[in-house]
Amino acid sequence: MNAIVVTGAHGQLGRRVVSLAAERGDGVEVTAYSSADLDITDPDAVAAAVGAGATVINCAAYTAVDAAETDEARALAVNADGPRNLARACGRVGARLIHVSTDYVFDGTATEPYEVDAKTAPRSAYGRTKRAGELAVYEELADAVVVRTAWVYDNSGKNFVTTMRRLEGERETVSVVSDQIGSPTFALDLAAGLLEIEADPAVLGRTLHFTNAGQASWFELARAVFTHIGADAERVKPCSSADYVAAAPRPAYSVLSSTAWAEAGLTPARPWSDALSAALAQST
Ligand SMILES: NC(=O)c1ccc[n+]([C@@H]2O[C@H](COP(=O)([O-])OP(=O)(O)OC[C@H]3O[C@@H](n4cnc5c(N)ncnc54)[C@H](OP(=O)(O)O)[C@@H]3O)[C@@H](O)[C@H]2O)c1
Repeated sequence: MNAIVVTGAHGQLGRRVVSLAAERGDGVEVTAYSSADLDITDPDAVAAAVGAGATVINCAAYTAVDAAETDEARALAVNADGPRNLARACGRVGARLIHVSTDYVFDGTATEPYEVDAKTAPRSAYGRTKRAGELAVYEELADAVVVRTAWVYDNSGKNFVTTMRRLEGERETVSVVSDQIGSPTFALDLAAGLLEIEADPAVLGRTLHFTNAGQASWFELARAVFTHIGADAERVKPCSSADYVAAAPRPAYSVLSSTAWAEAGLTPARPWSDALSAALAQST
């Protein structure tokens, strides 16, 4: 019997992977490790957690993008050494690894969607450590699958969409950057994509991109949130990245091409605005 091991299981994505895998009801055993249960930077603990024939879905990461600028060693431990430990453990026992990475491995200067083999050039500490993680994974396990995603949100927890919902109730107007373009991605849809890979043993040894389809600026996404919840979208005002200073630089353009995903025979993602409607309809 196959088994799924989810690391970072209490994070935004990890929770969705665990609950969706359980809902599938196909009898595949799911073991969910929160950071307290399994620290992926501990090689012995990782080796003990990965069983033969399992598929590990690594949702664990150091995701504090701004904090990573002054804490790169810790970010590197979690985002590169941790995935290396997982890949090595998988290689030893013949397990599969699906590892999640990010649009921040690119510099954001492109004007058309990034293909999976586009040149990487991270501009932030977080991006550098995530790129190091991709390379570490393939060094240890050529059959690993790396799935890059972007702009992930859910209908609960702390993320851009829940923040906009909260601000709608607190402020008359909200300023949001209009000069960064990406593809908003519902964590539930990403989880379904990862589980589709898990269910298809032929998907091995490749990098894939998964986001919801289409593109938007943060400003457009914020307006869409307001519209979906019945608020006046004109209350969201555009501003530029220069007005919103953050420690880590953000890619100006980070749309990820879905070509490799389609070529792998995987189900195309739905448009971001449909996914947003579904997410907000699930909100309480
Ligand atoms: N969110 C986005 O917009 C976005 C965009 C692109 C790519 N991604 C990638 O998507 C993946 C999932 O991100 P997410 O949004 O679900 O992030 P998240 O909510 O921050 O979840 C990450 C989880 O990893 C855990 N973790 C941290 N250090 C760990 C360690 N040493 N060992 C085990 N677990 C550890 C965290 O636990 P604690 O909270 O206890 O530390 C947290 O539960 C990550 O690979 C991320 O880089 C996310």
